[in-house]
Amino acid sequence: MSACTVRLYQREDVEAIHAAASSRSPRSILDELVPCALHARRARQWVLLQIELARQRKAFEFVIVGDGGRLLAAAGINQIHPMHRYANLGYWVRTSATGHGVAPAAVRAVAAYAFRETDLIRLEIVVAVGNTRSQRVAEKVGAVREGVLRSRVLLPTGPVDAVMYSLVRPA
Ligand SMILES: CC(C)(COP(=O)(O)OP(=O)(O)OC[C@H]1O[C@@H](n2cnc3c(N)ncnc32)[C@H](O)[C@@H]1OP(=O)(O)O)[C@@H](O)C(=O)NCCC(=O)NCCS
Repeated sequence: MSACTVRLYQREDVEAIHAAASSRSPRSILDELVPCALHARRARQWVLLQIELARQRKAFEFVIVGDGGRLLAAAGINQIHPMHRYANLGYWVRTSATGHGVAPAAVRAVAAYAFRETDLIRLEIVVAVGNTRSQRVAEKVGAVREGVLRSRVLLPTGPVDAVMYSLVRPA
């Protein structure tokens, strides 16, 4: 994959995040991951919310920007559990940028940020059983497959089982 920048959301990202998210099917899991895909107004709300959550250290959402300044993907840490110090790590890539290792690069960068800038111990990657592409991403970054959780992800078609992967703070 060519060089890219992984950085926290900025106010200027609204249009680009809307365009990138809209490249994905709106009836997919992306509804869950990226509620800004459908409406520009929601994209603005989403970006402003992520900036505020990062300020409060309640979530850390990043954009991945390619060489030419094009927004390729997004990834982040959310659902932070302050007592047990674990969180969810999520990611998606604009359709035209898939297949070039963008997601693994993003996940590595976001995980490194989490273990450097927060006291999180564990990052969870929860992938619907049918989402083999995302499972490949988890495997490529060295996340450990821990098992299958029943009815763990709610898709538009209903609940599905999900594979739980984790990355833990390096010793
Ligand atoms: C899953 C996703 C993040 C993968 O991102 P990516 O940057 O394409 O990741 P990679 O380039 O490492 O590709 C991962 C695997 O997907 C498959 N893949 C990627 N692009 C593909 C394409 N255009 N055609 C067929 N298979 C493809 C390959 O199996 C690849 O594994 P390999 O490199 O070992 O062959 C991306 O497809 C996406 O955004 N999907 C929708 C959102 C989502 O599912 N997010 C994760 C929720 S848990």
